[in-house]
Amino acid sequence: MATGTILQKAIDLVTKATEADKNKDYENALKLYEHAVEYFLHAIKYDAQGERAKESIRLKCQQYLDRAEKLKDYLKKGKKKPVAAGSEGSKEDKKSDSGDSDNDSDPDKKKLQSRLEGAIVVEKPNVKWSDVAGLDLAKEALKEAVILPIRFPHFFTGKRIPWKGILLFGPPGTGKSYLAKAVATEANNSNFLSVSSSDLVSKWLGESEKLVKNLFELARARKPSIIFIDEVDSLCSSRSDNESESARRIKTEFLVQMQGVGNDNDGILVLGATNIPWVLDAAIRRRFEKRIYIPLPEEHARATMFKLHLGNTSHNLNEDDFKKLAASTEGYSGADISIIVRDALMQPVRLVQTATHFKRVSGPSPKDASIIVSDLLTPCSPGDPGAMEMNWMDVEGDKLYEPPVTMKHMLKSLSTTRPTVNEEDLIKLDKFKEDFGQEG
Ligand SMILES: Nc1ncnc2c1ncn2[C@@H]1O[C@H](COP(=O)(O)OP(=O)(O)OP(=O)(O)O)[C@@H](O)[C@H]1O
Ligand SMILES: [Mg+2]
Repeated sequence: MATGTILQKAIDLVTKATEADKNKDYENALKLYEHAVEYFLHAIKYDAQGERAKESIRLKCQQYLDRAEKLKDYLKKGKKKPVAAGSEGSKEDKKSDSGDSDNDSDPDKKKLQSRLEGAIVVEKPNVKWSDVAGLDLAKEALKEAVILPIRFPHFFTGKRIPWKGILLFGPPGTGKSYLAKAVATEANNSNFLSVSSSDLVSKWLGESEKLVKNLFELARARKPSIIFIDEVDSLCSSRSDNESESARRIKTEFLVQMQGVGNDNDGILVLGATNIPWVLDAAIRRRFEKRIYIPLPEEHARATMFKLHLGNTSHNLNEDDFKKLAASTEGYSGADISIIVRDALMQPVRLVQTATHFKRVSGPSPKDASIIVSDLLTPCSPGDPGAMEMNWMDVEGDKLYEPPVTMKHMLKSLSTTRPTVNEEDLIKLDKFKEDFGQEG
């Protein structure tokens, strides 16, 4: 399409959008606005126009996007009329957008909170408890801290207070972040605020600690909530003389917010993860009341992991094979195993790519697994009966029989993948566990 017509198309769309908007056909208007913006952006990118024209298109796009955003909000909530097109949102309207507790009189605070809201994981990651292999004690502790108090609030009154801070520590790649994702999925009644240290560190003097404060206020406003801080060590390492002033302040604010005078942390759980727990500040360490060691997976957990990572890809491994694989991966972390499996999963693909001969086999049709067809093609060696000389380019898309993953593939990947966790770190982690932690 020539660029001139693209621009024209965009203008047409936007005209229709404003018309629909005027006629209160918001759903269509939203679609048209979005569509139009796409075309405008396309026009900017490929058009030979001058910078000024581009700039004015960009400005317009911004307006349309703002309007689209408002319409989206309105359609989602199904309440209150959106403000008329073109006019600024009224004060009242803004309030209902921003939700719970924040006071609108402080634009700074609003800005910070909106920055934080951007950093929060809203979607459920969809990792279930059963997707995490082993780590039974850690799962129990997390259920105790997260699920039970929400399900049976009366059970946790009086002196029986749920845990307020849990630290997951262990070698890299053992599933700490993964477990936190499972918590987010399974605790679907509470808000899961996942922030990383980079969300909380600002280059402006004084803003970082405000961000920390706002994070906790946001959590309180939406309780029950879980604040998950991955790699806490980067925020809360022990106080030393040469650390920067702002790092010290972030830490102080953390200490106060997690357990300070006048801060009610009912219904808030702070979940932290780190692989170098010994650098944590002692006071921060104390605030993580439960410190759970997430060790390298044991043999049976490794077998489960091999199975989990294979998923429903076609393979012909049996229980014995899984046991053998588990037995020969002592010292491998969950992440290492996932890499072995991923590499093994790719090998049938390479087989198809490099094959010089194919033969006919019967099997479930790739289109519909319930139908068995007999004209599928699979790679074979040139000496096989029925071998035909051809390469994958000659095979039609729906005629390829997927070669299953075999034990040979697994062993080959295993022989090329080394464990990533070193002895030294394990000793340090063990020592930390002895001193401060508990088995997970
Ligand atoms: N127990 C487990 N069960 C299933 N999969 C696991 C397990 N442990 C690790 N994995 C796999 O390894 C990947 C990496 O794990 P994760 O990111 O949780 O590691 P981590 O402990 O947070 O490491 P780091 O300390 O380096 O951040 C996960 O995405 C998952 O696929
Ligand atoms: Mg992690």
